Amino acid sequence: MENVIEMKHPLIQHKISRLRDKNTGTNEFRALVEEIAMLMGYEALSDLPLHEIEVETPIEKCKTPVIEGRKFAVVPILRAGLGMVSGILALVPNAKVGHIGLYRDEETHEPHEYYCKLPSPIEERLIVVTDPMLATGGSAVAAVDFIKKHGGRKIKFMAIIAAPEGIKRLHEAHPDVQLYVGHIDRELNEAAYICPGLGDAGDRIFGTK
Ligand code: PRP
Ligand code: URA
Repeated sequence: MENVIEMKHPLIQHKISRLRDKNTGTNEFRALVEEIAMLMGYEALSDLPLHEIEVETPIEKCKTPVIEGRKFAVVPILRAGLGMVSGILALVPNAKVGHIGLYRDEETHEPHEYYCKLPSPIEERLIVVTDPMLATGGSAVAAVDFIKKHGGRKIKFMAIIAAPEGIKRLHEAHPDVQLYVGHIDRELNEAAYICPGLGDAGDRIFGTK
């Protein structure tokens, strides 16, 4: 699929392997999610809008480009997407942050919304949605539906691990959304967990069960 970019960088692949290990504890897991988000962000933000400002170097005045802070927002899907925000903010410290609260019903696997707030105005911003896991794609589609309903237009989605089923569902619902994934895994199991995956990302980031 032309709008799916799978990260091949060895640093990202190495860190994902550490995430997968069930013996990796909360502290390291959290740090790895942040680092992977930063490395993926380097790629996902390669077309961030710039504008020129004037700066005086020790030699002379010059015009030089800086990031349009007001033209960007990062929007994590709660909870697990929160773990990726600091990695993006390390790259763009003045970015605005929205929040989309969704949880998956354990039986139906469909997402339920419990909190949503986006920075305003949203229309002109590049919006990067973060969630470590793209499983059935239900949460991703609901998050993008919400952002579009509120006027967001240029949307990218960053997932550390994705299942083919989730990629297909997101692409069918929102073919305009550019997707960045750290690794595309084999499949979902009957409980809609990604195989081999890394387990429950939210629980592993926040140390809950
Ligand atoms: C997880 C994950 C995604 C969602 C992916 O969240 O962080 O948001 O599941 O599954 P999907 O593609 O099938 O929708 P969860 O609902 O477990 O909530 P949590 O982050 O609060 O633990
Ligand atoms: N959510 C997770 O945290 N992990 C999965 O494998 C699927 C959904």
